[in-house]
Amino acid sequence: MNSRAATSNETATPFVHEGIAYGCDYNPEQWGPETWTDDVRLMREAGVDLVAINIFGWSHLEPRAGEYDFATLDTIIELLHANGIRVNLGTGTSSPPPWLTTLHPEILPVSDDGTTRFPGGRQAWCPSSAVFRQHALALVEKVAERYGHHPAIALWHVSNELGCHNALCYCDDTAAAFRLWLQARYGTIDALNVAWGTSFWSQRYGQWAEILTPRLTLSSRNPGQVLDFHRFSSAELLDYYRREAAVLRRHSNVAVTTNFMVTAHIRNLDYWSWAGDMDIVANDHYLDHRLADPAIELAFAADLTRGLAQGEPWLLMEQSTGAVNWQTHNLAKVPGEMTRNSLAHVARGADGICFFQWRASLQGSEKFHSALVPHAGTDTVLWREVVALGATLDRLAEVAGSRVVADAAIIFSWEAWWAGDGESRPSHAVRYLDQVHAAYTALHQLGVTVDIVSPDADLSAYRLVVAPCLYLVSDEQARNLDSYVKAGGHALITFFSGIVDEDDRVRTGGYPGAFREILGITVEEFFPLLPGHVLTLDSGDAASLWSERLRVDTAEVVANYLDGPLPGIPAITRNGHGSGTAWYVATVLEAGALRNLMRTIAEEARVTAVGPESAGTIEVVRRVNSTRSYLFIINHGHDDVELPVSGHELVVGEPIARIVRVPAGAVRVIREDPAS
Ligand code: GLA
Repeated sequence: MNSRAATSNETATPFVHEGIAYGCDYNPEQWGPETWTDDVRLMREAGVDLVAINIFGWSHLEPRAGEYDFATLDTIIELLHANGIRVNLGTGTSSPPPWLTTLHPEILPVSDDGTTRFPGGRQAWCPSSAVFRQHALALVEKVAERYGHHPAIALWHVSNELGCHNALCYCDDTAAAFRLWLQARYGTIDALNVAWGTSFWSQRYGQWAEILTPRLTLSSRNPGQVLDFHRFSSAELLDYYRREAAVLRRHSNVAVTTNFMVTAHIRNLDYWSWAGDMDIVANDHYLDHRLADPAIELAFAADLTRGLAQGEPWLLMEQSTGAVNWQTHNLAKVPGEMTRNSLAHVARGADGICFFQWRASLQGSEKFHSALVPHAGTDTVLWREVVALGATLDRLAEVAGSRVVADAAIIFSWEAWWAGDGESRPSHAVRYLDQVHAAYTALHQLGVTVDIVSPDADLSAYRLVVAPCLYLVSDEQARNLDSYVKAGGHALITFFSGIVDEDDRVRTGGYPGAFREILGITVEEFFPLLPGHVLTLDSGDAASLWSERLRVDTAEVVANYLDGPLPGIPAITRNGHGSGTAWYVATVLEAGALRNLMRTIAEEARVTAVGPESAGTIEVVRRVNSTRSYLFIINHGHDDVELPVSGHELVVGEPIARIVRVPAGAVRVIREDPAS
């Protein structure tokens, strides 16, 4: 692989790796040298070739202020290097050592209730703390100076999951930084007052010094303030990333990245604004068993990560071999599941598959988190699968560098998520991510490959663009979708879209303000429904949670409500706009109904389904390069499947003439014959 991440980063340093990287976090400080020797022997047995170290190294590297000790890290790096294992070197700054928080308790983060979050866990630092930054950057300088030209270093790993725990800090240092950010954004306090709508509830500010972080209030908080605080907090951590990266770049020509958290429950960073700074986009993904279908969410996260990488290959920096330890019920993976999950990431553009962590901890918070080497050792089902996965990834080496091509896109926006899921919204039963997942699931089950794109993305290459619950859009973003449809594109927009501008200010004259013309409709009033209230449409479909008093202007009616608060009112519409077509769904359709509608729209848009329809049990994705194409078929189901394809299968290594049989639970990757 020789990849560049987000194309906006024209000066990106390539991450160079042969084939598909196979790796893990390695925290050797927990054991002594005899274990390290055993570790590298086993890493070689498994084919592990990219190891992330020094992620939480600070208290070892700098045991006392200004006193550095690199002996252990030197030994580990040399050991890995001698064994041909490349290093993904952490800057070591993710968790400050106890001496620092003791000397400088002012770096500790403060929660929205004004209480301090103490050391004893991890990531106990305020992103705006100048004191923290000074100490952390001094450590980065030492690490970069020492290892910047070491031949083992393949990649720099800045901090760890920036913002995982500390994205939103409400302390006084943060308030000061927030004010500066607001001054840069608005220039004058009057402009801020207008943007935040402070004329309401007597919130008008006279001076910058009066502005605080949005700490807990008795009532709901000012939505503009909360939204800007999200923007600021994301930008503040990005600024921190840039400072670490700048130090690294002064001492080294190796690619720099950090691990994103594109995964169901994390929403605090606007990765569209971050991705261009990464030399290669990297993501951590953990299956969330609180969701109806974790494997489909995995596919969504992988497709979103590819979107952040502008379609270029990316790295899966962390996942688990089995159970995690931080959910309420931590499910282990059944045999084959880790392999399917890993290859689902590869299918969707990953050129590296890494795990947290190498050897299961014996102590500490994560001792019940799975690892490549479990507590039970290597005479285990899990270890055998780890070794087999390494061999499989080796056999897929030629896939590295190829790209996924998609006919359909879903627009995804962190800003719309922050604003749309605000405190004072029409229904708390409607959540942005659920609606995005619903649209994605429908396309996934139809066998359609989807790119997840930003509202600012060039949409012209897609046959179908879906905008689920895109509550907040700028005028420019609205124009982007408008021009796409006018030029002949097909769009599906769902309810609660286009409602406000980027200041969270309602667009007047009827909803969905920004998209009224594209859709040829006017919505007069929202009619959210109580959970459990199921409506029927005259199409026979069921719907819930949301309805709207809608009238068509130029659109045709596809379906009306039969019952509920708005009988006879349109629930689904279709509008010709320029040379294109825009569909609107004004309610939460039951999953099967949404899939049926999506099938109709996709057919009309001439979207090609790469795989067959299934309940999400069969994933089929194609990666292509300039000369070849690779068809990934992942069978999550309990029955064998057969699909028409000719070529050479890479996982088991056999020629395929016309039909491939994929056993239940297995994955097949076919280098396709040019004609198939
Ligand atoms: C995150 C962190 C790791 C580890 C895993 C556990 O991804 O980066 O250090 O805590 O979670 O799932």
